[in-house]
Parts: sequence; structure tokens; C-alpha cells
Amino acid sequence: ARAITGAPTTTTQPAPESTDRRATRRRFLMTPPTEFDVVYAINAWMDPSRPVDTALAMRQWEDLVAVYESLGHDVVRATPGPGLPDMVFAANGGVVVGGIAVGARFATAERGPEAVLYREALFAAGVEVVHEPTHVNEGEGDYVVVGDTILAGTGFRTDRRAHDELARLTGREVVSLQLDDPRFYHLDVAVFALDDDNVAYYPGAFDAAGRAELERRWPDAVLADEHDALVLGCNAVSDGRHVVVAHEATSLIGQLAARGFVPIPVDLSEFRKSGGGVKCCTMELRPAPGATELRPA
Ligand code: ARG
Repeated sequence: ARAITGAPTTTTQPAPESTDRRATRRRFLMTPPTEFDVVYAINAWMDPSRPVDTALAMRQWEDLVAVYESLGHDVVRATPGPGLPDMVFAANGGVVVGGIAVGARFATAERGPEAVLYREALFAAGVEVVHEPTHVNEGEGDYVVVGDTILAGTGFRTDRRAHDELARLTGREVVSLQLDDPRFYHLDVAVFALDDDNVAYYPGAFDAAGRAELERRWPDAVLADEHDALVLGCNAVSDGRHVVVAHEATSLIGQLAARGFVPIPVDLSEFRKSGGGVKCCTMELRPAPGATELRPA
């Protein structure tokens, strides 16, 4: 055991080894919020008349990067496109499983130009196969990868037909879920993967069939309440042990700790004004089977 009275360390260390939950090292694509603002409204959260503190947003984003790096994860930075205020939400740029990327095709004209920039960023990050999709989909915004399965949302942004396209291009099982509440317009604000075998979600975001499907697959899931969901607590990133999560999601944080996870609360208040949180800012680059890591850029 390490002495607790030694010289102070300069890096942020994760919480003490209190459980046997195992973290696996991740590689993330993230885009600095140099262009970030709320200047149009394409979801129920966005109000262009409400000011965004862009300097604070930049600090919050850098803090999130620092949290990931302190946990041992790699962060690859994409280049933000000029005049694209939502490009900070890297999750929407595509989905990468087994070293294969399926790019986005945005539902709104405002975000349309991001699609090609993200495909280029994925190539630059070393992903060798990057598909340009036929159908409208907003990447990991509506695709939540849980082990070998991909949960796929529809109802607000991603076209149901994109789910079949994703299954065909990746060979993965894709499970369609209907989103039912405009406050939870992307799947990744309603559910996240805790590890390869379990999820946390807010049941109120789904229709009855979606809720039944989630219940059947993961009877032991962590259920978030409406408060947790409205602070975008379900827009979290777990590495199997540490869960980077909105600090305001207090009851979700309590449940995660009780299950042996290590919650890492963060503040992304400025991004919530755009309807985005931790996961929205983060696209995971999942390597090909057997690869220890995707080829570095
Ligand atoms: N303002 C952005 C939009 O409406 C927020 C995207 C949030 N991203 C996400 N993965 N849920 O498109």
C-alpha cells in the first residue's frame, strides 16, 4: 500500500481503489469549443437570447480533457470549423466500433458542414475505414455502444433507416429505440453504457416499447430520475470504473457510488445551454479487435 504522507503529487489521481471495477483505457476525439456559442435553436434547450460565457466554456472543456487524461485516457483533438458553434459536440460526428467509422449526416442544415470535417478528423486520427452514410444520423449522439450491441435512437434526429445501414456497415447488432420527449432529443442524453454489460438510463425519455426493451436486456440497470436527466446526468462517460458525470446529477452519482463505480463529477454548465454535456463533447475511437490501440495520427 502507498503511504499517504509522502510528497504531494502534481497530477489528479482517481479515487482510491475501493472496488474491483476495472477501467479500460479509452481513446477519445474531442473538438475545442473555440467556435462554441448558442446562435440558433435546433433543440428545446437552446435559447439564443441567453448569453453563453465562452471563456468559461473553454475552461470547462479543458477541465474535461484534463480529467480524461488524469484517468489515463488519450484525447485526440479535432480542428473546429469556422462558424460551426456546435462542432464542440464531437459525439455527433460519427461512431467508431472495431476500428470502423460510420460518419454522420446531420438532420439540420446548421450542422451539415460538420460531417465532412469529422470524416477528415477520423482519418487523421488513424481510423482507416470511414464510411459516408446515406441516411441521416448524428453519430454517437444517437448511437450508444454497449459491448457488442449498439443502441440506436430515433424520433428527433437520426433516421430509422440509418440503424439498418449501421448494422450492415459494422456487422453489429443494432437495437432501435424510439425517443419520446423533446428534451431528450438524442439517445446519448437518455442512456449511457456503464461497461460492456450494463447501462444507466432515464426511462421517461423512451416510449413504452423502448422501456420494455431496455428492461428486458438490462434488468439490473441504474435508473436515473428526472432531475438527474434534466442536468444531463445520463450524458456521462464511463470507462468501466470511473464515471465522468454532471456534478448536479446527485442521486445518480449516489447510485453509481453504491454500485462500486467511482463518479468523477464535472461542471459543463455552458454546454448545457446548447443541450450538451460530457458525452456530447466526446467521441470514442474504439479499436479493431486485437489492436491495442488505433494507429496514432
Ligand atoms: N446543440 C447541439 C445540437 O442540438 C447539441 C448536441 C449535443 N450532442 C449530443 N451528442 N447529444 O445538435
